[in-house]
Amino acid sequence: MRKDGGSLVTPVVSAGPVRQELPRPAATRNDLGRPLDPAVVPAVGPEVGLPGMRPEDRAVWDLALPHLRHRDNDVHTLYSYAIARELCALHPEADADVVLPGIILHDSGWSEVPIDRVMAALEPGVWSASQESFETVRLHEIAGERIAREVLTGLHVPEDRVETICTIIEGHDTRREALSLEDALLKDADRLWRVTPRATDVVMDWFGLTREQSVALNAGRVHGHLFTDAAKVMARTLTAVGWVDVSEQRLALDRERDGD
Ligand SMILES: [Fe+2]
Ligand SMILES: [Fe+2]
Repeated sequence: MRKDGGSLVTPVVSAGPVRQELPRPAATRNDLGRPLDPAVVPAVGPEVGLPGMRPEDRAVWDLALPHLRHRDNDVHTLYSYAIARELCALHPEADADVVLPGIILHDSGWSEVPIDRVMAALEPGVWSASQESFETVRLHEIAGERIAREVLTGLHVPEDRVETICTIIEGHDTRREALSLEDALLKDADRLWRVTPRATDVVMDWFGLTREQSVALNAGRVHGHLFTDAAKVMARTLTAVGWVDVSEQRLALDRERDGD
């Protein structure tokens, strides 16, 4: 990858609609040759580190979802929620009832920003340097605060908690410092999504990048920008996995398997 800021990005020849493939939900073959005894497979649940979504958060998710179907915010939010849940488990002193509804609603305000303005504002290096892009980012924070207030009030969340969550959402991107541990965990979960394999796919298509370019761009926007040690460990692990996917060693293994 070029480091001189030159022609980094391969132009996209056909920019038709791209269907984001989800990870395979089932096997395509069985090398064992017979069905595996289902009794040896544990159920999905907290015992095996898969706690899922809390029932109280499910209600927030259902009401937030119509506001998240914009610029991949639905998948971004879901991945960041799962990460936030683990950050809260590692920080039991934090109020998960602030962090988790907050992360679900934090980007709901993008739904009120036209998609061309969204993409212009998201261009790497632009929003913090251009007044217009900064104002676009502010727009989604302010709209998000209003939507969060409507959703949480409708769910009869206590007023002081609504205020705490809305204050965090209102500055979640433009405020550089964290107001509280809850704010720090939300900001970290928001950023950590970038080093998930799914975010690599999403950002490739946002900017017409190779996988390697997307991994490097996203990693550069995470490392050095996290508040908590727990998040820093997660970032290192996820980035290590992301490197494997673009490493010359992994690509050579793929070529061998393909018989090239
Ligand atoms: Fe945001
Ligand atoms: Fe976000």
